[in-house]
Amino acid sequence: MRPGIVIAVDGPAAAGKGTLARRLAQHLGLAYLDTGLLYRAVGRRVLDQAGDPSDPAVAEAAARALHPNDLERQDLRGPAADDAASRVAVIPGVRAALLDFQRHFGATHGAVLDGRDIGTVVFPDAAVKLFVTASAEERARRRHAEMLARGMAPPLAEVAAEMRARDARDAGRDAAPLVPAPDAVLLDTTRLDPEAAFSAALGAIMAKV
Ligand code: CDP
Repeated sequence: MRPGIVIAVDGPAAAGKGTLARRLAQHLGLAYLDTGLLYRAVGRRVLDQAGDPSDPAVAEAAARALHPNDLERQDLRGPAADDAASRVAVIPGVRAALLDFQRHFGATHGAVLDGRDIGTVVFPDAAVKLFVTASAEERARRRHAEMLARGMAPPLAEVAAEMRARDARDAGRDAAPLVPAPDAVLLDTTRLDPEAAFSAALGAIMAKV
């Protein structure tokens, strides 16, 4: 594997990007960045001050004040953080404030980054771009199982509805919408377990580099 290589892993909520990207990074000896955490941490900062995550001035100030330690917070997952993250993510000034950190992270020693716009906006020249999907039903089932494992017990229908709303906001926004890059390799994990998804992704990467 060439040093300094950037691998972009994009896709909708709970498609298996995080598990896959982390494993790829470990296997390839690259750093890993979950860029969703940046948006989650910005959303959390806004919620901390009882602000509105859809307010551009408040959200942009939170994005500019972001500190790497914010990514270590334990309250970045769950319905409130999901919702706040996708609301701040619509705001172009928030996205702009987070761009340098992501580019610097990837450009320093190479990395696997997962998110929504890594292959389209953050690293349009990434050596490999994967777009990871799964059916909406399967993604809701996975997110529901994750939440049960973390001690939450929301109804599956509620998880599915929240995910649909977030996917629609991510795909419908003007700034860096969720869309596969034209040169992305599509990986549908609906019927793949994590091991099979990893093998398929590694095969796609090896074919490209
Ligand atoms: O884990 P999950 O796939 O549910 O979400 P995530 O990757 O942690 O991202 C949370 C939210 O941040 C998404 O719904 C997007 O609105 C936003 N996001 C984004 O806009 N761009 C990225 N590169 C990563 C996340």
